[in-house]
Amino acid sequence: MAPNTRGTPGPATEVAGPAMPRPLEGAVYGLLATRALELAVRHGVFRELAEHGPSRDGELATALGLDRDTLGRLLTLLRSLEVVTADAEGRYTVPPHSRPYLDGADPRFLGGFLRHLVESTADQLAHLEACLTRGKAAADAALPEPFARIYRDEESTDRFLDAMWQLSFDVSGELVELAGLDRVHHLVDVGGAGGPFAVAALLRRPVLRATVFDLPQVAGRLRQAGLRFRLGARLAFAPGDFHQDELPRGDCLAFGYILSDWPDEVCLELLRKAHRALAPGGLVLVMERLFDEDGYRPLATAAMNLAMHAETQGRHRTAAEYLGLLRRAGFTDCAVRRSGREKHLVLGRRSESALHPPGRWW
Ligand SMILES: C[S@@+](CC[C@H](N)C(=O)[O-])C[C@H]1O[C@@H](n2cnc3c(N)ncnc32)[C@H](O)[C@@H]1O
Repeated sequence: MAPNTRGTPGPATEVAGPAMPRPLEGAVYGLLATRALELAVRHGVFRELAEHGPSRDGELATALGLDRDTLGRLLTLLRSLEVVTADAEGRYTVPPHSRPYLDGADPRFLGGFLRHLVESTADQLAHLEACLTRGKAAADAALPEPFARIYRDEESTDRFLDAMWQLSFDVSGELVELAGLDRVHHLVDVGGAGGPFAVAALLRRPVLRATVFDLPQVAGRLRQAGLRFRLGARLAFAPGDFHQDELPRGDCLAFGYILSDWPDEVCLELLRKAHRALAPGGLVLVMERLFDEDGYRPLATAAMNLAMHAETQGRHRTAAEYLGLLRRAGFTDCAVRRSGREKHLVLGRRSESALHPPGRWW
């Protein structure tokens, strides 16, 4: 209610309050928006629209065997969010710029990531209140290690590895080009999961071979990727624990969405292991979301930074922070190369003159 000239509230009918600002509205209703979008993706609404063109809610409900009232409400919210549009006859369509993210056949499809947000991250967010009131260390004390929880059963493992593939495979083509890799013989993808970066690199560099070093739980998915892309012996798996073990040797060691899972001291330990494992002159690649220098944008990084706090022990960083970690671990020629997507590259080199134990590096 607006104050009158004496500073006391005026009658409600005189001055209408301003509408809720759009950014606040987005923050208040984001929970419902994510759920609505994920349900629509999971039940094939966007696939149906792509295959059959503009359709009314009743047509979609009949074709997909869904409840019309519920589907109508989901679509009304998605229309309000401008994720879909509708014509005067109530026929829904997806604007071209959103289509690739909602089309299961497109490499940018977000379905797996949305499912991970709704089925895993949403539960973990309940933990934020304990972090907020008791501090992260005390709140986490009784919890299992993050990857023990993620790999607790086959369904959760599959869901996580699907989400990682969808987040990482498509952008990896661009990251390979940004990294160069023309003179690399043996890429070691540390925490390479089901192989999104290693596979993208092998597809683009025919003489390269790659080893994914990761926990044993990802072995089946990596084997499937190798078969699907017919990579044969060029794609190998080295099971291990990067907290306990030294890393396999190579002339390029990659860390995709790894350092954002861990605090600075663990990142430094991993980067120092990479420095020891690298051939002189070899490359280290850190591929991550980056905060802008203002420390709060882009939105996706700020949102995932909060999710990382609930789900892992890590955080997102600026490019300058990653450059600082690389230099402290001994790397030189450090540089930042930005992709057109959400995952960027920060790289460094082990100097040519570094002392190293005898033996072949690749
Ligand atoms: C966020 S995912 C990143 C996957 C992939 N590199 C990408 O960019 O999409 C983190 C990866 O680190 C692996 N990981 C976690 N703890 C590990 C450990 N102690 N030793 C080896 N790998 C580990 C996980 O299994 C998972 O594949």
